[in-house]
Amino acid sequence: MSEFLVVGGNGHVGKEVVAQLLDAGHSVRALVRSEARVPVLKRDGVTLFVGDIANADSLAPAMRGIESAYVATSDGEESVAAFETFLKAALEHRLQHIVRLSARSADASSSSDLTRRHGLREKALEESEIGWTHLRPTWFMQMMTEYAPGGVIAVPGGEGRIPWIDTRDIAAVAVASLIDGGDHLGQTYELTGGRPLTYGDLARDMSAATGRTFEYHDMSPEDYAAKMRAEGNEEWYIALILQLYESIRSNSKAELALGVQEALNRQPITFAQFCRDHADELVKQL
Ligand SMILES: NC(=O)c1ccc[n+]([C@@H]2O[C@H](COP(=O)([O-])OP(=O)(O)OC[C@H]3O[C@@H](n4cnc5c(N)ncnc54)[C@H](OP(=O)(O)O)[C@@H]3O)[C@@H](O)[C@H]2O)c1
Repeated sequence: MSEFLVVGGNGHVGKEVVAQLLDAGHSVRALVRSEARVPVLKRDGVTLFVGDIANADSLAPAMRGIESAYVATSDGEESVAAFETFLKAALEHRLQHIVRLSARSADASSSSDLTRRHGLREKALEESEIGWTHLRPTWFMQMMTEYAPGGVIAVPGGEGRIPWIDTRDIAAVAVASLIDGGDHLGQTYELTGGRPLTYGDLARDMSAATGRTFEYHDMSPEDYAAKMRAEGNEEWYIALILQLYESIRSNSKAELALGVQEALNRQPITFAQFCRDHADELVKQL
């Protein structure tokens, strides 16, 4: 049995990473920014450490004696400098392997804030002398448990297709990388599901699995920005999300990748299967 550090353990992928590490008989140190926000992590086998990757002093207790870590964070302007602080602390504590949640098309020279910030963090990790594995997933199927309030997926996605991935598959690649190290070191896993789907396809599969009606309403980017503003989102985040939807509308996010098959030697979970497994959560939105 080993102990792994998990940063972002209450996130979409992180909570699956924690669950799968525990299922495999390992234990977890979860670095959280606030204990009050993490009921999902208050369970046997998980030790909570309050800290922030941007604050070096807060990292020492969580890192002491740890060899491998999974790291997922958000993507704000500060995220690159914060990750560099984390890396410096990881080097001081002699971590051997960091498995980092990145995103498809991560590119340090990209004009898109999201992909550039992911690219810069990948580059910093590669240059750090710590072993690394990059996980580059496409969009998460699990987002659909939150994206259809009243049964309507209302986003500016046009007829663009995405090969959505189940976060359980991303977590399985993360956990295999953490536990086995070895061949996973120095790997960049491009992670997608098995089929590119439009938002209309998603609504159809969600309806079929639940026996209830889900629909897709294509919004204009302007209307979507106004909606996000009204919900109190910050401008940097609105700009970043609009950039993403623009790439979906132009169908430049449709390409399939084989990271799940390469890392796990099996096919990815289908969206129809995801819907069957999460039917109760999908219906809660109605
Ligand atoms: N959502 C998608 O479909 C998708 C697709 C591809 C790639 N990604 C990438 O996946 C990453 C995570 O996204 P997500 O949707 O999973 O977000 P999420 O569920 O909100 O998870 C982010 C996690 O990071 C933690 N965190 C953020 N900043 C931190 C800091 N400074 N120190 C310590 N912990 C910090 C958060 O903790 P708190 O609870 O304290 O905030 C949270 O647990 C992002 O980089 C995103 O670009 C997402």
